[in-house]
Amino acid sequence: MAQDHGKARITASVYTSHVPAIGVAIDQHKTTEPYWQPLFKGYEYSKQWMKENKPDVIFLVYNDHATAFSLDLIPTFAIGTAAEFTPADEGYGARPVPKVIGHPELASHIAHSVIQDEFDLTIVNKMDVDHGLTVPLSLMCGEVEEWPCPVIPFAVNVVQYPVPSGHRCFMLGQAIRRAIESFDKPLNVQIWGTGGMSHQLQGARAGLINREWDNQFLDQLIENPEELSKVPHINYVREAGSEGIELVMWLIARGAMSDVSGGEKPHLAHRFYHVPASNTAVGHLILENK
Ligand code: DHB
Ligand code: FE
Repeated sequence: MAQDHGKARITASVYTSHVPAIGVAIDQHKTTEPYWQPLFKGYEYSKQWMKENKPDVIFLVYNDHATAFSLDLIPTFAIGTAAEFTPADEGYGARPVPKVIGHPELASHIAHSVIQDEFDLTIVNKMDVDHGLTVPLSLMCGEVEEWPCPVIPFAVNVVQYPVPSGHRCFMLGQAIRRAIESFDKPLNVQIWGTGGMSHQLQGARAGLINREWDNQFLDQLIENPEELSKVPHINYVREAGSEGIELVMWLIARGAMSDVSGGEKPHLAHRFYHVPASNTAVGHLILENK
């Protein structure tokens, strides 16, 4: 279908883990140390790709880790509509990264469209952002004076049960695509799905990694996301650990790609998998809309 050049469009989706220790390694300039070097090597392509494919806006799906929200208030899906978002102090001091500039106009439009499209979002006009959002930005952009473009934070509750299903996330991604593509400005938008892959941070199975399951998840996410979206939450927890449930957020970004709504299959620009980073298996994909 011919693109309406007056409207916003989704050019690509990016998927990546968000391990906080990765942020520390970048900030303390340890990326070339033997432990970290193989991980950061997997993002060399991505940083170059970001420079060559700089979007106008990033719609960044992530999870808050009891930083902006607490047990007092647990929104399932929260869209950041503010003009800016401050990187949070998570207890070790705030990361020395630029503040995040929002896009209130596009974020408000998406909120309106998606809510009318039957997904009830929480609108957040003031919110600090933690490693869930800043580590993916650092991995893709490196150390910068300012982030390359405005970012719309979209926080998903995958920390406190009940969490949203993969299928709900996949359908929400489709609604987000409709919202973005009905925005009356010719913006190139990337949608990022972050978190995962397999990890469990506490309990008897702490340290769990499941390479086979992770790689099947990557295969399915690329080839057959509709089928993948039907996997129930309990399978994520059983196979990928209690924090492996973060992976449902990747289905939001995947649901926003053109092929899900009758367009062409995306181009797989990059795929990377590495174990371990801290307690987590790191997965990373870049898919481009044709
Ligand atoms: C780790 C991973 C996470 O996703 C997180 O939120 C915190 C810690 C880890 O691997 O240490
Ligand atoms: Fe996490």
